[in-house]
Amino acid sequence: MEAKEVKKIVRKSYAKVARKGSSCCGGDAKAENISKAIGYTKLELDSIPEEAILGLGCGNPTAIASLQEGEIVVDLGSGGGLDVFLAATKIGPTGKAIGIDMTPDMIDLARDNAKKNNITNVEFRLGEIENLPVADNSADIIISNCVINLSPEKLKVFQESFRVLKPGGRLAISDLVLLRPLPESVRKNEKYLAGCIAGAELKNKYVDFIEEAGFQDVQIATEEGYLEDFDDEEILEDFGAEEFDNLEEEKEYIRKSIQSITITAYKPKK
Ligand SMILES: C[S@@+](CC[C@H](N)C(=O)[O-])C[C@H]1O[C@@H](n2cnc3c(N)ncnc32)[C@H](O)[C@@H]1O
Repeated sequence: MEAKEVKKIVRKSYAKVARKGSSCCGGDAKAENISKAIGYTKLELDSIPEEAILGLGCGNPTAIASLQEGEIVVDLGSGGGLDVFLAATKIGPTGKAIGIDMTPDMIDLARDNAKKNNITNVEFRLGEIENLPVADNSADIIISNCVINLSPEKLKVFQESFRVLKPGGRLAISDLVLLRPLPESVRKNEKYLAGCIAGAELKNKYVDFIEEAGFQDVQIATEEGYLEDFDDEEILEDFGAEEFDNLEEEKEYIRKSIQSITITAYKPKK
């Protein structure tokens, strides 16, 4: 699938999520439970606008970000603003958290969340993470949660991240990666593309992209099997049920194929 086509599918899918999110009154219990399961504490979730919690992430990048007062943070694929708002509480009024998203409805939702809650040290910019609307050498840290897997040009995303970071700046991201290639029935299925699986890259290749972009000291901070409570018959079928003797065997295979990782890396000081 061409990059343009991939983005069109992804944008359409997340526009729908944003419109649903913005039309409801927040406090979506399912989204909150997903967020807790992937590493956010209740205290963190209570500290940000509830309409920003859409249950779309696969980790908590702010937990490995070591954010400091006054820092400039850029969030790639900011959605409703969850990690931007969390970062904003940590960097305080002298810092700034900037969310980038290519889906206009998501940007509207995030801006609305900021306005309604009077949060002023944040900004949301419409744009693609492969062409960041951010100046060279201007950010202390780049965070991202379950977005880079959606990009058909992952190397470009890391090159852009490198460009906008100040020397010595850092990357702290959560994402899904693969331990073995997915069957074609999953890779070519639109449902799994927007669902953050079909576009995922092999873990080693993902790390190679980060290094190729110029980053050093690439460390995987956490790593665990994704889809722990996997029980969706339809998905199991798409993974090729006939190849397995029983459901448990298949679940185990899938669990071992897709990993949720958090990863840090640094732009050299010179
Ligand atoms: C899985 S959601 C994650 C949202 C948010 N990070 C969170 O954890 O709630 C992916 C988001 O990334 C955005 N996105 C996907 N591909 C993008 C790209 N190439 N450039 C900019 N934004 C992108 C989508 O519009 C969507 O809002």
